[in-house]
Amino acid sequence: MMDDSESPRPSLDPLTLRLTAANALIRRRRSIKPADMDPRPVERVHLAAILENANWAPTHGRTEPWRFTVFTGDARERLAGFLQALYREKTPKEEFRDDKFEKLGASPLQAPVAILVGMKRQDIEKIPAIEEVEAVACAVQNMHLTACAIGIGGFWSTPPIVYTPEMAQFMGLGPQDQCLGLFYLGWPRDDAWPEGQRNPMSEKVTWLDGGESQP
Ligand SMILES: Cc1cc2nc3c(=O)[nH]c(=O)nc-3n(C[C@H](O)[C@H](O)[C@H](O)COP(=O)(O)O)c2cc1C
Repeated sequence: MMDDSESPRPSLDPLTLRLTAANALIRRRRSIKPADMDPRPVERVHLAAILENANWAPTHGRTEPWRFTVFTGDARERLAGFLQALYREKTPKEEFRDDKFEKLGASPLQAPVAILVGMKRQDIEKIPAIEEVEAVACAVQNMHLTACAIGIGGFWSTPPIVYTPEMAQFMGLGPQDQCLGLFYLGWPRDDAWPEGQRNPMSEKVTWLDGGESQP
């Protein structure tokens, strides 16, 4: 006779399992600002996993245009200084805002990891620039989802100065390439994880089944 420990487990449909896991991860991913991160370090093994998954983004023509410069520890001060200097240089006096200047200096130090995100075009430029940007965005999403799976918060930040040629140069990129922002990583303070919010998908999808009078 079988006792309880020997009774067969209910079989779980693998598709349902995979889909449930994907749904949960995608919907849990949140932007967590550097100001809401705490100073606990992000371990190398976690950072490596996050970066490795960036490399598995889709890429038209297999150009793999994503480039990252990772700042941790004291190197973040160099980044903060550069961002502030560039903001001062590029912003007309009447538009200069002290709070923006301060934030550019503070964010890289609040987050234990600050990553400059770059797009490198292939030499022959066969693939349109927009598609290279799209591929990099996919890579950032892979990073963000991986961070979320670990419990680490991520934040993609795009102050206007990131799109300047000086920023690409700072990353060691060429004139055809572009910096696409900063991606901050860090543990959320008190492990607080914000709720997400979206408008209904039905407002954003048009369905055509061939029976309609207009295309
Ligand atoms: C390309 C891109 C650039 C972004 N740049 C900024 C930014 O400069 N400042 C900011 O507050 N949020 C920025 N965000 C993050 C959005 O604010 C965030 O994704 C949005 O509020 C939805 O929240 P969620 O990511 O938690 O779902 C950016 C997101 C993307 C995809």
